[in-house]
Amino acid sequence: MEMQNEIKHIAFIMDGNGRWAKKRMMPREYGHTFGAKKFKEVASHCYELGIPNVTFYAFSTENWKRPAQEVNAIMKLFMNYLDDAKKSLDKDVGIVFLGSKAPFSAEMREKMEFLEDETRTRPKKLCIAINYGGRAEIVDAVNKLIAEGKTEFTEDDITNNIYSGVCPPPDMIVRTGGEMRLSNFLMWQSVYAELFFTDTLWPDLTDKEIDGMIEQFNNRKRRFGGV
Ligand code: FPP
Repeated sequence: MEMQNEIKHIAFIMDGNGRWAKKRMMPREYGHTFGAKKFKEVASHCYELGIPNVTFYAFSTENWKRPAQEVNAIMKLFMNYLDDAKKSLDKDVGIVFLGSKAPFSAEMREKMEFLEDETRTRPKKLCIAINYGGRAEIVDAVNKLIAEGKTEFTEDDITNNIYSGVCPPPDMIVRTGGEMRLSNFLMWQSVYAELFFTDTLWPDLTDKEIDGMIEQFNNRKRRFGGV
């Protein structure tokens, strides 16, 4: 796969961890463990290809409804990642968490904020959507503008005040696991994104399949409403 510079931002909906584990007669948490590994591999591959901004949908505001055992296992995987990120992260990649940090433990919030602060000036971005909802992101942006005293907003106002304002909008959104919907992911930013859906379960996604999607992306004509 050649380096490419057309894609400034690619985003992934990591779906299918539970089914991947079930196929192996293992608990769902087992799938998330492999999902977390895959997340690191896919991020590295995208930076190697020259894509500067990569976003992952790790946990939605609705995912708290899952059984406590599963939620706890996912939180543990995040904790491990927060502890390991400084070592494993590319030196020019900054981490940004998309979503309200309020529901997380104080320890987790501190680690998240520390990582963000430490890496803020780095030119590439790794955005992790965690406790994220696309509608909530827009509502939060509007409330922020109101708190600043604004009474009328432009599209740019919203674009500049959403959590993910540090990145350009995604050129590509990839969803694994067979569902063909966005599930409240990057609502504002996704309007001109090219969408890719695959039946492949997240832990099974390969660099080769990603390369194939990028090849397809390069063959699609993006007109942004023009001709
Ligand atoms: C969707 O698969 C996956 C999730 C809701 C959790 C994703 C979490 C991780 C990959 C682990 C931690 C991530 C980081 C950033 C360290 P699903 O459980 O909905 O699968 P299913 O549709 O087969 O049930």
